Amino acid sequence: MLKVQARQVDRDFKIKNPLGKKDILPVLRGFDLDIREGEFLSILGPSGCGKSTFLNILAGLDDYDRGEILVDREFLEKRSFDRGMVFQSYALLPWRTVLENLEIGLEIRKVGKRERREIARRYLDLVGLSHFANQYPHQLSGGMRQRVAIARVLAYQPNLLLMDEPFAALDAQTRETLQIELLRIWEADKKTIVFVTHSIDEAIILSDRVAIMTARPGYIKEIIGIDLPRPRTEDIRNSLEFARIRQTSWLLLRDEVNKTRESQRMRA
Ligand SMILES: Nc1ncnc2c1ncn2[C@@H]1O[C@H](COP(=O)(O)OP(=O)(O)OP(=O)(O)O)[C@@H](O)[C@H]1O
Ligand SMILES: [Mg+2]
Repeated sequence: MLKVQARQVDRDFKIKNPLGKKDILPVLRGFDLDIREGEFLSILGPSGCGKSTFLNILAGLDDYDRGEILVDREFLEKRSFDRGMVFQSYALLPWRTVLENLEIGLEIRKVGKRERREIARRYLDLVGLSHFANQYPHQLSGGMRQRVAIARVLAYQPNLLLMDEPFAALDAQTRETLQIELLRIWEADKKTIVFVTHSIDEAIILSDRVAIMTARPGYIKEIIGIDLPRPRTEDIRNSLEFARIRQTSWLLLRDEVNKTRESQRMRA
């Protein structure tokens, strides 16, 4: 069953060009993607190709100009409590403690106070930050804030989890720990996850499929099925099959990164 169907989606942004004149920046063009119910799908693509734009549209935070998007076979509604997003920047509320930040989504869903606290504490524990429950975001390191943001969206238990480079700001060890945790959570309740990353290795180790985007204006260039067994252990990272998939992905991505560099050079 399909969770998301994106058909020929276009997105343009209105910008001012270097001469101060109004211009149109085509960001997504003919973007086609089917996302299956319960799958872990990653998106790789060069910087500026429209990955965050697509996630924002899916989250109902941005519009699209042409094409169609269906979620659960219904046309995308702007606001829905069934989708949760972890942003590229952490987006925590500074006036709320860490624990209170975790409770935001549950409050919106009208979960009772005691249950809210309990769920929030459980997920805070999961990301190893129980001791920081009563601190404020500015008292945490960048990596810790990102862990709070991840715990918050997990606590919210959305049907469709949208993650925009959630681990990018973390040190290598925390990153691997959270990858394993995320997989554990996902394997337990099989929510659909759309995960944007710049790390080919991360995309492969986590995903059922990896979608590779073109340079801007972005669309899906190719989808690679990851037939590695689960659970994904350390041995799998070192396997020949892993190396083969990494090589294929890298070659596909490299051309697009080069195109992006080339067009930036032309504009400079
Ligand atoms: N609100 C906006 N107004 C104008 N241009 C925008 C807006 N949001 C994004 N853009 C432009 O759209 C393009 C795609 O942006 P987007 O953030 O989706 O890229 P991305 O693939 O997520 O890149 P990165 O990997 O660097 O996060 C960029 O050229 C960006 O400058
Ligand atoms: Mg982005």
